Amino acid sequence: MVNSQKYSIDVLISEEEIKQIVDDLAIQIKHDFDGEDIVLVGVLNGAFVFLHDLMRALQKLGMKNMIIDFMGMDTYGESTESSGEPKITKDLKQDIRDKNVIIVDDIVDTGFSLSILQAMLNARQPKKLVTVAMLSKDERREVEVKVEYIGKHIPNKFVIGYGLDYGGKYHRELPYIGTVRFEQ
Ligand code: IMP
Ligand code: MG
Repeated sequence: MVNSQKYSIDVLISEEEIKQIVDDLAIQIKHDFDGEDIVLVGVLNGAFVFLHDLMRALQKLGMKNMIIDFMGMDTYGESTESSGEPKITKDLKQDIRDKNVIIVDDIVDTGFSLSILQAMLNARQPKKLVTVAMLSKDERREVEVKVEYIGKHIPNKFVIGYGLDYGGKYHRELPYIGTVRFEQ
């Protein structure tokens, strides 16, 4: 359990920068999938804010025929360290066979959850499966995963806000991405 420790929050990525990052990702995705039907698969819980912003950015660029679905995964429980054994808490409603599927994730850390999710969705034989992640902590990677679109590479620090929580509880509502600084 981590919640009893005192901490403060430093801004790492501002609201303005987030908007720029999301708009850039939308341009890349639009370029690669223009005119095609796509299924955006948001990885719950963390990716719901990013998915919302990305969907709107794609719509503004004229993308149509987007299906939105969600996959629930629990990697961390109440800890700030990945358990390495993510639990599936919710499955897709859509049949993704022969569809263009874009996994929308908040952050790639060890890569365990994403590699499991990719294998699971690939087994359902989509036409194409790609991944977009808002953030990546490259230093922390323990398994190799392919992430076609990455918003920003960040250092090995625990981050919160913009959908990301602390200890399974707080700070998802923050409009910026911040780092947690523990007080001694
Ligand atoms: P991985 O399996 O270690 O790559 O963990 C990926 C998932 O853990 C992400 O999709 C997030 O939901 C969560 N996660 C990883 N790092 C952080 C962090 O710094 N803050 C909040 N959640 C995180
Ligand atoms: Mg996640």
